[in-house]
Amino acid sequence: MLSEKQIEALSDFIKPRMSKKRYIHSVNVAYEAVKLARKYGVDEDSAFIAGYLHDCAKELEPEKQKELMKRSRFQVDKVELSSNPLFHAVAGAVVANEEFGIEDAGVLAAIRYHTVAAPNMSALSEVIYLADLISADRDYKDVKRMRKIAYEGLCGAMLEALSFSVTDSVRKGNSIPVSTLLAYNDYVERIKNIKGKEGK
Ligand SMILES: [Fe+2]
Ligand SMILES: [Fe+2]
Repeated sequence: MLSEKQIEALSDFIKPRMSKKRYIHSVNVAYEAVKLARKYGVDEDSAFIAGYLHDCAKELEPEKQKELMKRSRFQVDKVELSSNPLFHAVAGAVVANEEFGIEDAGVLAAIRYHTVAAPNMSALSEVIYLADLISADRDYKDVKRMRKIAYEGLCGAMLEALSFSVTDSVRKGNSIPVSTLLAYNDYVERIKNIKGKEGK
């Protein structure tokens, strides 16, 4: 378990970087991530840290976010490079690493993929992706249903979330990041395999 001092350090780091509303969201995501981590046997401290930090770059100027994103060690595709709302995930992993000193590759990947997802995601990355969707401050139309699904299985919840994301992008005429499409295909396969094993 993280000490009070460690939690304070996280809080001191993100508080000056964001509005009160986003700070509350970050804390909510951290606590939701811990609950999901407990349910799915994921390291709870890593979930808390990644949840706390996931939006740490979101309120930087878009140009600054882009600059950070460009020097990230993570691969970034053309769609991500041309979509402002997506910059902050990659930039956030850079900030968490360079300015807060996070070295854990799993935590950095969870921050980096919390917007677009990826194929072969770790359970920690899935937990952060889902915690961001269902945190206590979320109030979109289907949030209750998504909250329920999130606790019924990681793969099923990821497929549900990605199906929504892909469909929504298509409906709005937006491009879809390659990583999201690959993630979608990956979960379709994973669910097929799970159902195959269950003889359904
Ligand atoms: Fe975010
Ligand atoms: Fe978020």
